[in-house]
Amino acid sequence: MIKMNKPLYLDNHSTTPVDERVLSKMMPYFTEIHGNPSSIDHIHGNSALKAVKEARNEISKILGCKREHEIIFTAGATESNNLALIGVYRKHKSKGNHIISTQIEHASVLHTLEYLKSEGAEITLLPVDNYGRVSVDDVQNAITDKTILISVMYANNEIGTIQPIKEIGEVAKNNDIIFHCDAAQAVGYEDIDVYKLNIDLMSFSGHKIYGPKGIGGLFIRSFMPIVRINPIMHGGDQERGFRSGTLNVPGIVGLAEALKLLSQESKGINKKNNEFSQKIVEVLQDRFPHIKLNGDPVNRLSHNINITIPGVESKALMLKLKDKLSFSAGSACSTIKVKPSHVLQAIGLNDDDIFQTIRIGLSKSIGKEELDIVIENLLDAIAHLS
Ligand SMILES: Cc1ncc(COP(=O)(O)O)c(C=O)c1O
Repeated sequence: MIKMNKPLYLDNHSTTPVDERVLSKMMPYFTEIHGNPSSIDHIHGNSALKAVKEARNEISKILGCKREHEIIFTAGATESNNLALIGVYRKHKSKGNHIISTQIEHASVLHTLEYLKSEGAEITLLPVDNYGRVSVDDVQNAITDKTILISVMYANNEIGTIQPIKEIGEVAKNNDIIFHCDAAQAVGYEDIDVYKLNIDLMSFSGHKIYGPKGIGGLFIRSFMPIVRINPIMHGGDQERGFRSGTLNVPGIVGLAEALKLLSQESKGINKKNNEFSQKIVEVLQDRFPHIKLNGDPVNRLSHNINITIPGVESKALMLKLKDKLSFSAGSACSTIKVKPSHVLQAIGLNDDDIFQTIRIGLSKSIGKEELDIVIENLLDAIAHLS
């Protein structure tokens, strides 16, 4: 197997490596247990179906579902977000065409909402404060008699800010509006109970939680109330007709194992990463007092560090450290287009600041030794470029 120790990987909001334990659990499902879970008339199909059932059960328990069939498997959070938003809109547009979301959602939400305008949707994108938090009052005040859906992400992929999800869910519930949450960055890391948080639909993804790429899920509430959505893909009616297509059995097994392991271990991981993040920011600010931490200082993912380094172009810093550290400038999805990040714009950064901002996503396995390497290299490179 190819081992890539260098440079040190610090881009875990973009994607994570598959945990070895997850990989071992998946392996038999590529070869020995290769049946199609829809082919229930023979042992091969049944063995695959059993694995899918176990995975669905595991995930539904961890996320606080009332029934295991509330979990639908998809190809990732992008597909889950598309299914949730388009599916709700097409099912409920006769009741109203208004959707509320925020300016800092992931492209898979924002671009889908933009697309829905072509089907007649009216979209309100709420602003956020300088920490990246949306106001619950703003959500309440944006509701009209045409509002059918509120979609707010759990935690932001660039600045790590966590939203007041339970309170927003309460507003949605009190107004009889469906509440969707894109939790791709939070599932596994944060304690999430969909019913306690008043969530109706929730998207998540395998590759953000040390599971495989190309697999994800959507929680669809089926208890008080039953949430109804239209499918967006048509075919063999797998996943109760919500998502046709032969199930990705190894991926599903891997997703469940990854979620199980991360949820079991997240307390320790978050504590360590919180200390490490604080240490990195403290040491950098001690030497370069103008460095600014972006995002909410308290309500944030513990493995996220998003900092603006005045006078140092993020691309130059990345180039200087390319053999030592892999991190990103803004969101991974937007780095190909040299466009200022919409998230950093929404929290009030100007273009100069934005191009001097980096994002680090610490891994669950980073230790003290690597922490020193991160700090040492950043200090050296910033000093050199300042
Ligand atoms: C918040 C958020 N939503 C959705 C996605 C898309 O996830 P996937 O790559 O599984 O389609 C990402 C990935 O960057 C994300 O960070």
